[in-house]
Formats: sequence, structure tokens, C-alpha cells
Amino acid sequence: MDFLVLTLFPGMFSGFFSLGVLGQAVADGRINALALDIRDHALGRHKTADDRPFGGGSGMVMKPEPLSAAVREARERLPVAPVVLLSPQGRRFSQEMARELAAAPGLILVCGRYEGVDERFVEKDVDLAVSVGDYILSGGEPAAMIVMDAVARLVPGVLGNDESALTESFETGRLEHGHYTRPRDFEGDEAPPVLMSGHHLMVEKWRRETGLLRTLVRRPDMLETGLTKEEIAQLVAWSERIAGLIASQTVRGAHSSSGPEPER
Ligand code: ADE
Repeated sequence: MDFLVLTLFPGMFSGFFSLGVLGQAVADGRINALALDIRDHALGRHKTADDRPFGGGSGMVMKPEPLSAAVREARERLPVAPVVLLSPQGRRFSQEMARELAAAPGLILVCGRYEGVDERFVEKDVDLAVSVGDYILSGGEPAAMIVMDAVARLVPGVLGNDESALTESFETGRLEHGHYTRPRDFEGDEAPPVLMSGHHLMVEKWRRETGLLRTLVRRPDMLETGLTKEEIAQLVAWSERIAGLIASQTVRGAHSSSGPEPER
């Protein structure tokens, strides 16, 4: 997989391309990653890449000519790779989109800065605009890193078998159970004993159930489609326990709201 990033800050990518999972994939030759400086394509003595917006207003706009020239150079290097603009106005990035992009023959990622990029560049040169979430970054660079990280993990051989399993478990659409390691007792807080029981089936059951509970509490939207039979049985069991608990209680404070005011 080839990544070509067009940015005004190529230096931001030197650590990203040389460390961690991506750094190893680059060293192994599974990923080629390069950041090109858009300013190299800017004209004039000052190599200006931005200008004031037509119509007035605050902030600066990235000029179309350096962007377009940088894309031309990128297309010479990667002729069939889609041009992806990182923009808060783009399609929301997701694991599903990461899978789609991982199937592409490389990616040309364009990082905007300032108020945005000239619209004529977007219309002429951009195949897909991608947002990494509903918040505004100072530039597309951290967004491009998010996209490359998630895509690289899906390139065959980039992850070892252990880590691949982690990716698969997220792709089931459920949050994962919590993770624990030594010490057993951390400042009086014990790791769940079932994990030390050596009972593989019980460990698996605990992981499935606590993952489902986390998903229910933290991301109920993820449960809106595709419940398995086992998950339905688990949810029914929990709701029956909750209903039983409620039925067995007398409501605390019930008298004070319906009865007479307490004497002062
Ligand atoms: N540039 C600025 N904010 C962004 C976002 N949320 N996603 C992608 N690119 C961006």
C-alpha cells in the first residue's frame, strides 16, 4: 500500500512514518509512505500557498495552483490512487471506510490548513473528502494520520496474528471487554479472578458478557442492528434481573413527595 501525503508540514510525518506499527510496516516494505511539501509548488519569491478569501471575512484560504500542481506530481507517482481531502465537511471516517480505502491501489491524502482550500481545487482534483469527526482541527495532518493508521492495520502482514484478532473483535461491532495484566492487586484493586482461573470457556464467557454490557452502556447505538441469539438471551436475562430488583423494592422517598410536608 502506498501513502502519499500533500501537506504544508511534511516534518509532522517523520515520526509517524518511522515509529510503531506503521514504522515497522514501512521498514518491512509492506507500506510506502511519503510526505510532499505543497509549498514546493507555490510560485513567487515568498512561495505563498494561501491568500485572503474573496468576499472578505476572517482567515486565509489555500490557493488552488500549488495544491493542483502537488496533486499532478502525486498522480505521476501514483497514477491510479484516489485523491482524498481531509476536511471537516467530508464523509465521516469509520472502520467500514477504512476497509474500503484499504482496497484502493494507494492513497493520495491532501491536508488542508487555515479556513479551507479553494473550492475549484476540490471540484477539479478531489475524489473523496473525509472527516474524522465533528470537531475542527488546525489542519488535516492529524486526520490523515488517523486514516493512514486505520488503513495500514488492514494491509495483510502489517499486524501480527495477536493484533489481527483485536481488529477482528472490533469489527464484530461490539466494544471490547476491559484488559488486565500484572499485578493481580493494584493498590487494593483486584483484577477479575475469573481471568486467573485458567478456565478458558469461563474467560471467554466473561469477555463476551462484559463487552456486551459495555456496548449497552457506552454505545447503545451499536446494538441497534445484528443482535445474536446469545446476546438476546443475555439482554433478556439482565432485563429480568433488573425488573425483579425493581419489583422487590419499596420506593425510597415515596412518602415525602406524596405525604404531608415534614414539620420544621
Ligand atoms: N481538518 C480540520 N478538521 C478536520 C476534521 N474534523 N476531519 C478531517 N480534516 C479536518
